[in-house]
Amino acid sequence: LTVAVVAIAGASAYLWFAAPVNTVGAVAFSRSLAIPPLADSRVTDDGVREFDLDLTRGTADLGHGPGTEVWGVDGGYLGPTVRAHRDEQVRVNVTNGLGETSTLHWHGMRVPAAMDGGPHQMIADGETWSPQWRIDQPAATLWYHPHLHGATAEHVYRGVAGLFLVDDEAPGDGLPDRYGIDDVPVIVQDKNFDGDRLDTGISALSGVGILGEEILVNGTPGPYLDVTTQALRLRLLNASTARVYDFGLYDEDGGARPYEVVATDGGLLEAPVPRERLMLSPGERAEIVVRVDPDDRLVLRSTPPDLGTDIFHTRFAGGADSFDVLELRAAGELAPSPPLPPRLRAADPAPDDPAEIRRFALANNRINGEAMDMSRIDAVVRAGSTEVWEVTNEDGLPHNFHVHDVQFEVLGTDDAVLRGRKDTVWIPAGDTRRLLVRFGDHVDPETPYMFHCHILYHEDAGMMGQFVVVGADDDEPTVIDHEMHD
Ligand code: C2O
Ligand code: CU
Ligand code: CU
Repeated sequence: LTVAVVAIAGASAYLWFAAPVNTVGAVAFSRSLAIPPLADSRVTDDGVREFDLDLTRGTADLGHGPGTEVWGVDGGYLGPTVRAHRDEQVRVNVTNGLGETSTLHWHGMRVPAAMDGGPHQMIADGETWSPQWRIDQPAATLWYHPHLHGATAEHVYRGVAGLFLVDDEAPGDGLPDRYGIDDVPVIVQDKNFDGDRLDTGISALSGVGILGEEILVNGTPGPYLDVTTQALRLRLLNASTARVYDFGLYDEDGGARPYEVVATDGGLLEAPVPRERLMLSPGERAEIVVRVDPDDRLVLRSTPPDLGTDIFHTRFAGGADSFDVLELRAAGELAPSPPLPPRLRAADPAPDDPAEIRRFALANNRINGEAMDMSRIDAVVRAGSTEVWEVTNEDGLPHNFHVHDVQFEVLGTDDAVLRGRKDTVWIPAGDTRRLLVRFGDHVDPETPYMFHCHILYHEDAGMMGQFVVVGADDDEPTVIDHEMHD
């Protein structure tokens, strides 16, 4: 191997292997795409919709025989899709059977900090944690995953993750909505294998942790989806630990098939946005709707994303070439689908003037020079207030930025997709994103929410901080009791 050493300004030196070590290859689409089942629920006498999620170790066939040891929910790889309606009270009984401490976080959810499932809400092996909250946000494709400090990448990579769909009666009704038929989850992850074992080895030299050479969708290698309707809605989730995708749909001649982006992380766009490419970094979601013709063969393909600097193409896009993710096989006759509604929702009300402007510099697995410390609060915000958070990628490595409990607005962009509701956003190398954040009103001065890079290796290594929400008129707390709250 040829090894080149590149010094990153202000950072330690990273080693770059000039030889292509990530070779996501050609795919034979030979397996029908698994659709995560909808999680069972019951409504208790006091009107709470209750779910059970058992975190388990089991085995699954991820393309290397039936015996690959995986983690997941209820014995398999990944977990069922949890689905609840706006304004419902929900309770999720999370039982940890993993053999070690974990947590379960509701990514994108507006939720009291003690119910958030972040690093402070640890669930010891054999214990059950039962958070309860009221769903208080518009329809969206959210997701759940562990968040144990220092071990998030491993727990997610081994397979603990799933979708959490919020429904409401948005004007966007009229979108394809038959789960698993014309409204299909697409959870994209990359893996490495060592024989029939999931290879969890991390090359610290990569700078981003694991980059897998094989792609799974909903846990299925080489997946195809039979399409039976004229319009198909895909709910895309990048649940990889580090890989960034730039998704397009292509026909058999390699021509790009335009689609409409209808939703981002936190829910519907105001109107569909026609696109041919869409970049998703880890943690981000998007919903797209594509119209298909009878007998169409389309491929969901990732092409090398523009990560802001050329050096990252090979390392972080997984080779200079494109790779295929999922094949869509349209039937010879398709059930009719109505055209998309021209408007999906009303515009958000104009935000208040920001009460505060804060700056966050991402570099060297630190934020503003500090590594994550469970006992340090990095920001105290007031319930219901609006702030501008300016986040800068200072070391030029790949980073994105995720804030718990909120959907923010990206300022200063005319990209109609980026202007949708977001909880995770790519921060180009050397660039700054200005985020307009409206905080919730779950006051709890003692239990922090997280903000962090969602490249999980960076998060685990310390690129994470904590904020608390205090009452609008409260004094700022000076000492935080950081004992476990559960
Ligand atoms: Cu998806 Cu703090 O996490
Ligand atoms: Cu989150
Ligand atoms: Cu990062």
